[in-house]
Amino acid sequence: MSMRTLFLKADEPGVRRAAEVIRAGGLVAFPTETVYGLGADALSGSAVAHIFEAKERPRGNPLIVHLADAAALESVASHVPPRARDAAARFWPGPLTLVLPRAGAVPLITTGGLETVAARVPSHPVALALIEASGHPIAAPSANRSGRPSPTRAEHVREDLDGRIELILDGGPTPVGIESTVLDMTTEPPMLLRPGGVTLEQLRDCLGEVAVLEGDDEKAAGRSPGLRYRHYAPRAQVIIVERGAGEVEVAPWLAAGRPVALMAQRPVSLDRPGFRVRTMPGDLEAYARDLFAVLRELDSTGVEGIFVEAVPPEGLGLTIMDRLRRAAS
Ligand code: TXA
Ligand code: MG
Repeated sequence: MSMRTLFLKADEPGVRRAAEVIRAGGLVAFPTETVYGLGADALSGSAVAHIFEAKERPRGNPLIVHLADAAALESVASHVPPRARDAAARFWPGPLTLVLPRAGAVPLITTGGLETVAARVPSHPVALALIEASGHPIAAPSANRSGRPSPTRAEHVREDLDGRIELILDGGPTPVGIESTVLDMTTEPPMLLRPGGVTLEQLRDCLGEVAVLEGDDEKAAGRSPGLRYRHYAPRAQVIIVERGAGEVEVAPWLAAGRPVALMAQRPVSLDRPGFRVRTMPGDLEAYARDLFAVLRELDSTGVEGIFVEAVPPEGLGLTIMDRLRRAAS
């Protein structure tokens, strides 16, 4: 696969051009408030097939369908229970994805062969303008090569997908920085399949009881197919350590002459050859916004190990720890 990838600013002419590409069955990378998505017409099986090829994504890993507004849910889901409407009213547009029974208009390739569909209304103005101008819902996974950290800048998309897609719309860094929360509304109570930009605490506040999918086993992967696949992984080995333990943990690597980096939410004053420190924001929203870009940046320095001090698994901390664990596995 090789083509010339256009790189355009996400202004009005850029979005218009991108919508033409989508309508013609092509692929456009575009900013959402979470991460950049790789979009195609969600209702066209042949367009969606290109997404799997460009990303080298396994066919069994279903895509999220992006809608212009909550009313469009009726066109992709065969049944929308009242609680799903409540969640949509509270969190859309925004980083929440709802899993519902699939409507016939959505091809099975979009849903990875499942009888359910995942849908969300993004809040990024460029994403909304693109969906509206395309006239169809847009299927979009994160616009990274499969297995790599999700892209939070157009430049990350270029690193992974240049020459493999028609167009990249550059709308600057994405404001949330981690992907949407995926919530299965076909179970009672609803079940959190992937923590994300909307926190578990916020979901429970809106919906009452919310179950949490536990474990990375085959049974869990049956509900959340994304769990089957390696994710978020830089080339360097990612190692999670306890808060405050960074200096001690990196010592044997440095003694062995292996260059390493440490990400910690505190100043670290250790100064050694081959050692880099990245002080991460104490505020978890800011931490989440930076996370994938920092992983990519440290990786590009050629370190062999990226040590990360754990954050408390509450609020966005739960999402950050989920992504770190997957990057480390
Ligand atoms: O924030 C986001 O969600 C970004 C932006 C572009 O919207 N998209 C994204 O897509 O992260 P992706 O493909 O990287 O992750 C989609 C997740 C996967 O974990 C997948 O298994 C899950 O959503 N998913 C999609 N459809 C599903 C379904 N029908 N049932 C259960 N899980 C589903
Ligand atoms: Mg992804």
